[in-house]
Amino acid sequence: MTETSSLAIILAAGKGTRMKSALPKVLHKLAGAPMIAHVLSAAEAAAIGKLALVVGPGMDDVAQAAITLNPKLQVFVQPEQQGTADAVKAARSAVEDFKGHVLILYGDTPLLRPETLNAVEAELAAGADLVVIGFEAENPTGYGRLLLDDRGRLIAIREEKDASDEERALTLCNSGIMGFRSGKSLLGLLGRIGKNNAKGEFYLTDAVALAAGDKLETRIVLSSGAEVLGVNSRAELAEAETAMQQRLRARAMAGGATMIAPETVFLSHDTKIGKDVLIEPNVFIGEGVTIADGAVIKAFSHLDGASIGEGATVGPFARLRPGADLARNVHVGNFVEIKKAEIAEGAKVNHLTYIGDASIGARANIGAGTITCNYDGFGKYRTEIGAGAFIGSNSSLVAPVRIGEGAYIGSGSVITKDVEPDALALTRAPQEERKGWAKRMRDERGKHAKDRGNKGT
Ligand code: UD1
Ligand code: CA
Repeated sequence: MTETSSLAIILAAGKGTRMKSALPKVLHKLAGAPMIAHVLSAAEAAAIGKLALVVGPGMDDVAQAAITLNPKLQVFVQPEQQGTADAVKAARSAVEDFKGHVLILYGDTPLLRPETLNAVEAELAAGADLVVIGFEAENPTGYGRLLLDDRGRLIAIREEKDASDEERALTLCNSGIMGFRSGKSLLGLLGRIGKNNAKGEFYLTDAVALAAGDKLETRIVLSSGAEVLGVNSRAELAEAETAMQQRLRARAMAGGATMIAPETVFLSHDTKIGKDVLIEPNVFIGEGVTIADGAVIKAFSHLDGASIGEGATVGPFARLRPGADLARNVHVGNFVEIKKAEIAEGAKVNHLTYIGDASIGARANIGAGTITCNYDGFGKYRTEIGAGAFIGSNSSLVAPVRIGEGAYIGSGSVITKDVEPDALALTRAPQEERKGWAKRMRDERGKHAKDRGNKGT
């Protein structure tokens, strides 16, 4: 898709007080990415060429986060929150002389899809002067209502607080997202918006009545209410998360992954899942995870920043942390934690093990209870295990240490020195055996118990 010469202005200067948070509202996360990132990626996916963001004074963290996500984005500060029209005015210098379409988006509407933005663009391209994304609300309370004339044309938006009882009964609502033919047409309307209303604010929504009065062409693009859900509270954030998760799961399944209980699998915005992947119930996937074709993620696993190769199996109850890099056909079993470690093809780490800051060669077998001791309280050190090595159960590998290819480590060893290829290394107290000791002990204690009249309870 080629980039259009459109401008999107994202409004995010509102304080978001209902979140009750030290963090600005649009930095709260959905599927692992801040709300503002979702809005930016929808605009990018709709091929909108120019982006502007309006923040409030002191919201440098929001500006910084947005610029990091899209370095071409321009940031404007709205000095006082005097309403949505006033917010757009803060971005005046980006709008002036802008010949293309201008779209107004909200930073707190993270579920908006690029397809819907494209529909707005299409209406503008087809000759509309002003387009509003509207939706049918089951409960319209709090939203502006779309007022239509008897020919069904959009003539005004009435804010809840300014609406008559009759208008309040309307259920066709304003999502807040609008499109204008050009920068000039937007500024012409903006300049005439006053604040003679219940809130004493400059309402961007007043642009509609002004445009209709000028006999300009106003249109509505309908979306679902869910898509334009505005997040104002933590409860709405959770609602948006639910919707986002459903979307991500549907995408993974459409791509050829099987989920036994999709509603129990949590994905991130950037999770990459191949074909014929099976994900069992109750799996959490954080940011930066890639799962290649044919891999199986068993129940109750927690993956974060990990890469899982073709045909690998993980879990149940596995924890893969950032930098866990599993090649083809690797097996990672229950109660295994892996961090910053490359596990080569066909290696097995099946039970109760910690592997951190390590590399494990192809087909190596890591026994139950193996620990790479990678941290001495000051620094982190690496463990390297060669191809085909066999680490006996309950071994501690004290890093930095290397186990050569094909070497064998006896169970229960504490390995502090490098081990040559094909050698056996073991550190163990010699086993003692005292013949008949157990029987003598039992007989003696049994006799004492009888003497005391103990009935053996
Ligand atoms: C707005 C619409 C309403 C619509 C609703 C949809 C107006 C007047 N009303 O109402 O018709 O149904 O959204 O959710 O536009 N903002 C600023 N600066 C300001 C005020 C707001 O940047 O001075 C930003 C907010 O950060 C937010 C967006 O604009 O992203 C909407 O503001 P908000 O106060 O939530 O508007 P609503 O009253 O919900
Ligand atoms: Ca709102």
